[in-house]
Amino acid sequence: MIKEVIQNAINTQIAREIYSSNLYLSMAGFYTTKNLHGFANWMRIQAEEEMTHALKMFDYLLDRGGKPVLGAIAAPPSEWVSAVKVFEDAFHHEQLVTSWIHELADLAIAERDHATSSMLKWFIDEQVEEEATTGEIYDRLCMIGDNPTALFFLDNELKSRKMAPAPDAKSAK
Ligand code: FEO
Repeated sequence: MIKEVIQNAINTQIAREIYSSNLYLSMAGFYTTKNLHGFANWMRIQAEEEMTHALKMFDYLLDRGGKPVLGAIAAPPSEWVSAVKVFEDAFHHEQLVTSWIHELADLAIAERDHATSSMLKWFIDEQVEEEATTGEIYDRLCMIGDNPTALFFLDNELKSRKMAPAPDAKSAK
């Protein structure tokens, strides 16, 4: 049986992953309104992946005899001043998520919960990739600046992103 303190912390992280999904879906909507359909595709897939992160933790809690409790999810922003600001926010959000995952990992170690430590290893590795990817696109957008041709090419490139759900997220595609 999972300890209550770990269960509560995982429930908090589930809400944060769902917020992340909503945030990226909102960003996808914003990009679509700007006719940047490659960026919109990237964000829509990111939103779906975040939901698989929530499901992975949700299923883990159930497997450990715990109880998922879904709390209120704050509304994400829906307006940004520019295409680059969206990715700046996405990059900073992923840095924040990394710090939350590390806090959870610290708690699992402190509570000597080896199963939770093992489950979190995937998330720790995933955050390295999440920060690298959002950071790279943010950097490229900064380089592009006001060059519409370069923006067009990056937008086209991002149309090819495909879904990669978290492994073992049972309800994911
Ligand atoms: Fe699930 Fe992008 O953190």
